Amino acid sequence: MDKMLVQGGNSLRGDVAVSGAKNSALILMFASLLAEGKHELTNVPNLMDVRSAKTLLEALNCKVEFSNGRLSIDVSKPEKLVAEYDLVRKMRASILCLGPMLSKYGEASVSLPGGCAIGSRPINLHLEALKAMGAEIEIDKGYVHAKCPRLQGTEILFEFATVGGTENVMMAASLAEGVTTIENAAKEPEIVDLANYLNKMGAKITGAGSSIIRIEGVEKLNATEHRVMPDRIEAGTLAIAGAITSGDIVIRDCEPLHLDALLSKLRDTGVGVHVESQSIAIKGVKEWRAVDITTAPHPAFPTDLQAQFMAFMTLANGTSVISETVFENRFMHVTELIRMNADITPKTRVAVVRGKPGGLVGAPVMATDLRASASLVLAGLAASGETEVNRIYHLDRGYEKLEEKLSKLGAKIKRIKE
Ligand code: UD1
Repeated sequence: MDKMLVQGGNSLRGDVAVSGAKNSALILMFASLLAEGKHELTNVPNLMDVRSAKTLLEALNCKVEFSNGRLSIDVSKPEKLVAEYDLVRKMRASILCLGPMLSKYGEASVSLPGGCAIGSRPINLHLEALKAMGAEIEIDKGYVHAKCPRLQGTEILFEFATVGGTENVMMAASLAEGVTTIENAAKEPEIVDLANYLNKMGAKITGAGSSIIRIEGVEKLNATEHRVMPDRIEAGTLAIAGAITSGDIVIRDCEPLHLDALLSKLRDTGVGVHVESQSIAIKGVKEWRAVDITTAPHPAFPTDLQAQFMAFMTLANGTSVISETVFENRFMHVTELIRMNADITPKTRVAVVRGKPGGLVGAPVMATDLRASASLVLAGLAASGETEVNRIYHLDRGYEKLEEKLSKLGAKIKRIKE
């Protein structure tokens, strides 16, 4: 298993460009199942999760080519409307092929994704919504079997603003009969990217990005082209990398408006943040203030940046209270940060971080999930001595060429292949 060696102490300097968004690309790939013919997605990041989604689409009879960020997907009717366990277990987002297949072909069987390091991650809200649209759903031997000759538009009220649930319903409703409204819909920018793609395919979706989305079902959708939005979590991770190393960097090809919550917290710590239409300049400071954060659905502070921000807070002046309201078990990085000399008390869904400026010390650490891995790399950049981050296959699921990008900014980081 590859690992990463990070030598701490260098301030990052220079420019870095952000890749396309993993969490959008994956969903757009599954959305393509709604229309036979040749789709083309550009700005697609070359990541393990994208390659897993490609394998799943191929198993569903699509011809997929992927090179230089360009992904062409030629969709034809699958022989078996089944997403097998071996493919789904590698990437939880595979459950997002359920809505499109069910809606387009009247039935679908998708393996249940199971839990993951950050919690049990149920899909009950996806299934209840599809049932409300008329689907018969059975769970048998670890698979969800769904059937409905044609889904019917209806009113759906999510008890939690689930991102995946909102996406599954938007896709399913695009080919349903009549109008579907989603209340308490997720407002993440990836939802807007999906709506734009579906509308280019001929769907009739309004309200994406607000808490009420209206989808008027159509008879047929057509294959189309789309450029994937920039990865806001990668951009945010790089911004924190600039701040934690007291660096001076410019993050290009991103959408600063997607990162309001993070940028305003960074400003509160004393870090200089300058925003232009598609770039963010971060001017780090030698000592920064502790601030509290609470993760919640967009536009609040994203759970996918909580671990990275916690690494930053371990070196702040003062005490920071970090509350995680989205996932029940997302503090796996805490014990690893403590091994690097951080002072953190984790409680249920809350961690108290007593900052120690200059206090992190390099150590061997273990990556446990995607964003936790990123936080350990950031901690390593600011620690004294060397940090060895093991199990970095998690990082490869979600960050394109992270070590290359950080090296270009002056970090001393290298991958050891094993
Ligand atoms: C997506 C993102 C992930 C991000 C998360 C929250 C992708 C591929 N992944 O995950 O990176 O961390 O949004 O911003 O886009 N829940 C239920 N029942 C359901 C669905 C969700 O209880 O049917 C709960 C989950 O367990 C979790 C919370 O709702 O506690 C949020 O989940 P959700 O917004 O659905 O996240 P994902 O779509 O899985």
